[in-house]
Amino acid sequence: MRQDIDYILIGEDQIKQRVAELAAEISADYRDLGDLLLVGVLKGCAMFMVDLARAIDLPLAIDFIAVASYGASTESSGVVRLIKDLDTDISQRHVLIVEDIIDSGLTLAYLRSQLLRRNPASLRICTLLNKPERRTADVPVDYIGFDIPNAFVVGYGLDYAERYRNLPFIGVLRPEVYQSA
Ligand code: XMP
Ligand code: MG
Repeated sequence: MRQDIDYILIGEDQIKQRVAELAAEISADYRDLGDLLLVGVLKGCAMFMVDLARAIDLPLAIDFIAVASYGASTESSGVVRLIKDLDTDISQRHVLIVEDIIDSGLTLAYLRSQLLRRNPASLRICTLLNKPERRTADVPVDYIGFDIPNAFVVGYGLDYAERYRNLPFIGVLRPEVYQSA
């Protein structure tokens, strides 16, 4: 598995430290609201979601949503399909979407517009990774773990063809791996 990684972009300790910082910021921002519902976007959010939730020092609830985008496997097409909806009624709730990565922003723009229709009290977005160069959709992001360059990354929840999610770091995949697929 590690031989498919070109280099480590963000190490395990760096992730841990940044997750703690984000959790402290979120805890401070939501303390007086008395309500927080984390909505993880499956499956890439999995590792980030559980680490972030455990580090937030507030009562909170968690739920998950799953979407799939049509198109090539290393790029999202912007045409998004809902695979699994929330179990929770988010009306009048303070909702924080938890994402692994924002690339074009099309996935989040779609999700955000869908969830806003359900009248949450507030809706914010937290992403571990952000590729600012690639943004085409104008979507407000409230909490960003790391801005990263435009390379295909895997690990800590992120996959290529469902592999590499269990790597403890964020690594850049060797292009040969997806070019030869
Ligand atoms: P958009 O373009 O809609 O894409 O913001 C967001 C989704 O695209 C996937 N994505 C990646 N997945 N490494 C991955 O493992 C990457 O470098 C990468 N870039 C985009 C991901 O599913 C994300 O939710
Ligand atoms: Mg994703």
